[in-house]
Amino acid sequence: MERLTDKPAARGVLDRYRDRLPVTNETPMLSLGEGGTPLVSSRRLIERIGCKDLYFKLEMCNPTSSFKDRGMVVAVAKAAEADARAVLCASTGNTSASAAAYAARSGLDAFVLVPHGRVAKGKLAQAVAHGARIFAIRGNFDDALAIARRVSEKHPIALVNSVNPHRIEGQKTAAFEIVDDLGDAPDLLFIPVGNAGNITAYWRGFVEYFQAERASQKPRLIGWQAAGAAPIVRGEPLDDPQTVATAIRIGNPASWEAAVAARDESGGEISAVTDEEILAAYRLLAEEEGIFCEPASAACVAGLLKYAARPEALEGPESLRDQTIVCVITGHGLKDPETALAIEAEVPEVDADLAAVESAMGLA
Ligand code: F0G
Repeated sequence: MERLTDKPAARGVLDRYRDRLPVTNETPMLSLGEGGTPLVSSRRLIERIGCKDLYFKLEMCNPTSSFKDRGMVVAVAKAAEADARAVLCASTGNTSASAAAYAARSGLDAFVLVPHGRVAKGKLAQAVAHGARIFAIRGNFDDALAIARRVSEKHPIALVNSVNPHRIEGQKTAAFEIVDDLGDAPDLLFIPVGNAGNITAYWRGFVEYFQAERASQKPRLIGWQAAGAAPIVRGEPLDDPQTVATAIRIGNPASWEAAVAARDESGGEISAVTDEEILAAYRLLAEEEGIFCEPASAACVAGLLKYAARPEALEGPESLRDQTIVCVITGHGLKDPETALAIEAEVPEVDADLAAVESAMGLA
């Protein structure tokens, strides 16, 4: 009888991509069924954009509801292989949720440093549920990451931020899946940029598949930072980044240079969108496409709307008309219920009575 663990999604990233990952005979085949996420086509946004094809890579469908699981499964498995007792990360929330889950799965302790008061409630709930030891640092993400790096240098605790090369290795598998699903690489990939590990990982994945002749082209990478947290766009680190998209509230990205290299080698760009643009795209995705993502994820869709409004996107050789575009939807909207409820916090109460409900529905 076929076992559940043999099904592709349940097999997970380590097993499915073992030939392209740092997997040895000693690497534990850790999995929570990460990877194999849906690539769904746009139904309505595509009409506004005017491109040939538009897809959303739903990375929010990973086990802890963000893309982090792809890299975390590799980083935690390699930590376990090296006999680490504990893992440590700094996080705006999603990395810590993922680290906590995979550490629990492996029987390792997890230590998490988050910026005080700035982590979306759902993400904190995940780290709490998995039994991580969480500390709210009186500072921002960049301060927390600097301390996490020092702790891991001084103590035998594995750092599982994306400065750990195993994280980037695991995350590149999302690019493989896009190529496999489309039959080739897309023309353009729109992606939010925070600590800049993910854009780095996608580029590595696309280059690897191109070199292996699994794809005939490489996409242009179009990355998006929040305007109040856009150090790469401005060309200098920021001390006090601010944005509603707390996941990408980062002033000094760890993978800055690799992200700039990915941008330039792909012929792409990294630009900024305002919080207003992010929240408009967040609502549009939920209301018109049925996709409830977190604000940071919506940044790349806000970026696509902005990009598509440029004159060169409408006409001429750079026109989007013949382009296949993928937007990376990095995390689930449920992680940040407060942002959703800020749109409409008041749900009207109605008596438990048919006539009253009909009247409230405007059917009376
Ligand atoms: N989208 C979401 C939902 C994220 O959580 C992050 C990063 C990003 C996009 C940006 O990806 O950092 O690789 O450029 N979250 C990290 C964290 C910083 O701690 O969870 P990136």
